[in-house]
Amino acid sequence: MKTTLSIIKADIGSIGGHIKPSYQLLESIREFIPRKGKNLFDDFYVSHTGDDIAILLSHQKGTGSSDIHKLAWDAFIEGTNVAKKQGLYGAGQDLLKDAFSGNIRGMGPAVAEMEIEERPSEPFLCFAADKTDPGAYNLPLYLTFTDPMFNPGLMLSPACGEGFKFNIMDVAYTEGDRIIELLAPENLYDIATLLRDNERFVIESIYSRSSGEIAAAVSTTRLHNIAGKYTGKDDPVCIVRVQGNFPATGEVLSPYSIGHYVAGFMRGSHIGPLMPVKINSPISYFDGPPIVTCHAFCVHERKFTESADVFDHPFWDYIRTKVSRKAVEIREQGFSGTAMLPYNELEYGGIVEKMEKLDKLFKIRK
Ligand code: 13P
Ligand code: 13P
Ligand code: MG
Ligand code: MG
Repeated sequence: MKTTLSIIKADIGSIGGHIKPSYQLLESIREFIPRKGKNLFDDFYVSHTGDDIAILLSHQKGTGSSDIHKLAWDAFIEGTNVAKKQGLYGAGQDLLKDAFSGNIRGMGPAVAEMEIEERPSEPFLCFAADKTDPGAYNLPLYLTFTDPMFNPGLMLSPACGEGFKFNIMDVAYTEGDRIIELLAPENLYDIATLLRDNERFVIESIYSRSSGEIAAAVSTTRLHNIAGKYTGKDDPVCIVRVQGNFPATGEVLSPYSIGHYVAGFMRGSHIGPLMPVKINSPISYFDGPPIVTCHAFCVHERKFTESADVFDHPFWDYIRTKVSRKAVEIREQGFSGTAMLPYNELEYGGIVEKMEKLDKLFKIRK
């Protein structure tokens, strides 16, 4: 019997700006899911990362199940009503469509799912990021699944040594899913060529070549592609299986020590370093910096253990200090050059009108 892991997240309102959801809002989701979905799933877990609420579910309905997606959608609708009653900021922010239409993908919330045959012990990691977009996972996943400098398992584990298959999505294409399959290690330079562009090419999933099993799944939603205007950042989620045929937990975490620069931060319009933070962390400086949390679980017969908070460790305090420094350093140049995203990423904001107005004021000097 197969197990499906689904993580579905949305921003449906938060306290004091884009900081964190209220206790009452989180509780409304925790109460709704078992009340309305008790026959649909086997276990669930609700958490928040910045202003985003993530619902993790284990069930037998496979990926893309309209029952599971509808349950999450309805929970977010219920939560939006609570957010409105409390006057939370951005109530219902990520719910971009009026009515549920079978699959929550393309409706605003971010979804990452995988259907697996459970191993006797099935450890996995659940990442959730705020104030950034799905391309934020490109570099860490690339380094874990291709680079022995970050993942010695590629040398030390025969299964990992057979390499991994990457499915990479062109998120600029909105007519459907435009996907390319590339193999590591032989297509390494092609993979890097695409993943260089975090705003356009996003890792969607990764498979083990030794067993064919899925290793990682990432949400690929770009909100502005759905809404046609700036509606907040995409704040992606990601599931990674670990140990055995897959990288060890620490090999998946190791690239997060970089605090690499990603798109997002204030108004989703800047570049900032990605800070690994403790679970249920809020947002602060300059509506950021972009943050990522990670819950480690084991799932057994579709029941979750309690989670381990892998970024709650003194090592990561040291990294957070480094990332804070990187955040201040790029902020020192304000709007200039690479500190802000290029025009095509801002084109859904007020800058378009401003540019049109200014354009008319230009004169060609004779
Ligand atoms: P085990 O000896 O428990 O398998 O641990 C190996 C490992 O993956 C440590 O990184
Ligand atoms: P969120 O996408 O997390 O809601 O943030 C929006 C924003 O504009 C922050 O400045
Ligand atoms: Mg928000
Ligand atoms: Mg958010």
